[in-house]
Amino acid sequence: MPMPVKNDRAVWFKGGDLTCSIPPGKRVKTTRLVLMGPPGIGKGTQAQLLCKRLGICHLSTGDIFRTASVLKDQASPALQTALHQMHSGELVSDTTVIAIIRERLKCLECEGGFALDGFPRTIVQAEALETLLRDHHVDLTAVINYELPIDQIVARLSGRRVCGHCRAVFHLTQAAPKTPGVCDNCGKPLYQREDDRPESVRVRMRAYEQSTKPLIDYYQQRNLLLSIDADGTPNGICRRTTTALREFTGSATEGSSTANQKTNPR
Ligand code: AP5
Repeated sequence: MPMPVKNDRAVWFKGGDLTCSIPPGKRVKTTRLVLMGPPGIGKGTQAQLLCKRLGICHLSTGDIFRTASVLKDQASPALQTALHQMHSGELVSDTTVIAIIRERLKCLECEGGFALDGFPRTIVQAEALETLLRDHHVDLTAVINYELPIDQIVARLSGRRVCGHCRAVFHLTQAAPKTPGVCDNCGKPLYQREDDRPESVRVRMRAYEQSTKPLIDYYQQRNLLLSIDADGTPNGICRRTTTALREFTGSATEGSSTANQKTNPR
């Protein structure tokens, strides 16, 4: 089992020539995942758990925008437009998102591996990712698609609280912090995301249906899709995911055609 990576994700948050505080060592096999599913299903929560278990790095495009939002008036006009789109629940333009990913190519190539959370979100973004990875001789291990009925997703979103400093995710009742309103990891205050207001949630759900859901077929056709039931506790879902992933990578290396079947081990 690889050692957990506890770096500061400096390259991911800031891009450019930075180096992470604890760059990963060489791996026998690098795990590179895309996490998919509707807003609020628990991708960020699973990314945190999977990263601890697999020693990979959590790469969230939403976190990049939320980190940039502290810049406020100092942000470039393009970034200000992106932040306005995010707060209202709309998708940020493909051009902006793809440019941000290009500035962080080092993370995609990193030997430590990754769990991409929130990218790609459109077919245009998926095609751009495919080209970038192919040009840099990097393969995706799997695309994990979480599934859950809508009423449970809405309950998760309405109780969510996040840490503005380390980006940890909590829930008022399902994953409550030890001290109300305070992050367990770093002791900083928790807040409710602006795009968790009901009117923004409606826009986000529509954007998911129209733009992101078609990616399920896209990745199924590429034999990369692994669908996971997102009901249950975060740790239970994480165990379900790693078990399915082990079976999937085993069968993928053996050339099995069962790779893209729905997997739901309890
Ligand atoms: P992003 O941050 O990616 O948001 P999202 O996809 O809408 O997903 P969320 O972060 O809302 O939810 P999640 O699935 O991670 O759930 P979580 O783990 O927090 O993007 C935000 C915005 O940025 C977008 O709307 C867009 O504007 C822009 N953007 C980002 N990437 C973009 C791109 N590529 N293209 C264009 N625009 C882009 O869990 C939710 C809650 O449930 C938490 O409170 C958690 O504690 C709780 N919970 C989790 N698991 C469980 C469980 N098993 N049981 C009970 N509660 C649980």
